[in-house]
Amino acid sequence: MDKLLDRIVITKPDDWHVHFRDGEMLDAVIFDTVKQFSRAIIMPNLADAIKTTKMAENYRSKILDSFARLKKNNQIPQENTFTPLMTIYLTDDTKPEEVLSAHSSGFIFAFKLYPAASTTNSSAGVTNLFGNCRKVLEKLQYVGMPLLIHAELPDKNIDIFDRERFFIDRILISLRRDFPDIKLVFEHVSTKEGVDFVMEDTGPIAATVTPQHLIYNRNSLFSGGLNPHFYCLPILKAEEHRQAILKAVFSGSKRFFLGTDSAPHNRSLKENRCGCAGCYNAYNAMALYASVFEANNSIDKLEAFASFNGPDFYGLPRNRDFLVLYRKENIIPDMLEIGKIQLVPLGAGSVIHWNI
Ligand code: NCD
Ligand code: ZN
Repeated sequence: MDKLLDRIVITKPDDWHVHFRDGEMLDAVIFDTVKQFSRAIIMPNLADAIKTTKMAENYRSKILDSFARLKKNNQIPQENTFTPLMTIYLTDDTKPEEVLSAHSSGFIFAFKLYPAASTTNSSAGVTNLFGNCRKVLEKLQYVGMPLLIHAELPDKNIDIFDRERFFIDRILISLRRDFPDIKLVFEHVSTKEGVDFVMEDTGPIAATVTPQHLIYNRNSLFSGGLNPHFYCLPILKAEEHRQAILKAVFSGSKRFFLGTDSAPHNRSLKENRCGCAGCYNAYNAMALYASVFEANNSIDKLEAFASFNGPDFYGLPRNRDFLVLYRKENIIPDMLEIGKIQLVPLGAGSVIHWNI
């Protein structure tokens, strides 16, 4: 990493957890990801969930078409490349053979576990992992394909701030015991207990970390009023949890890497009597990460977190091009308007000191 006073040059990063949606929203948000990242793990929780290799293939074509339009309109440099890494949504009915066809497709890189009713578009999620998905888990372990986990137990009797902890105790510990070699990604880790599990686990495991869980604690949800643009799942936690995440990321452990969980919802669906969960952070994700790394005297750890640990875990080559970050006042806009779509970016109205 080239480290000058007002500029950092890092190997081009990847985003290991992003929601692109489809249709107009896909066209509206893809630019923000491809301007910063070479590859991204594309979440499968569309309204019509991506449950098969065939569906993933169709969705991938839509993403590549949308990317090609950006180039055609000269919105991004012609030499820019972008590879969507597709995933499949695990359900109670997923067939073990689906793992084999996904694995041999060459464009699918993981399966995603959403416990039913845990988050946006999770109604098709898994109701009983060990009862219904054992054969699929065996196959994932056998072919070495990662299982990406939304690690929350969505039980109405469990406090929302404890859902990650309960998921670890009731599901994750048994999952690791029964499948000692399955590759796991603990997505958007949000608690001290999550961090500890990832640090101490004896099998292949990693965690993605979002900008919001690094920068904010749950006070942001309520400071001066109710702030729907800080509402995501897993929900922001107390400061001690944020501190544990910072410590893990800056420890230099290779088990923690960048995954924005950028999850766009139209402004009207966020500022609503029942606002959707999800923060739109793709707009300036790398600048946000650089700011929080610098604020913690750890800017030298940014490149491994953003550009090395992810591909190393997934067994993919590191990128060979570079991204330049400049120190420059960066006022985050209150709102982005792209055609009919309005998005409020994470940190709207605040000032950070990095830019790409
Ligand atoms: C995500 C979404 O909107 O798709 N929402 C969120 O709060 N993170 C789903 C998810 O990753 O939980
Ligand atoms: Zn997500």
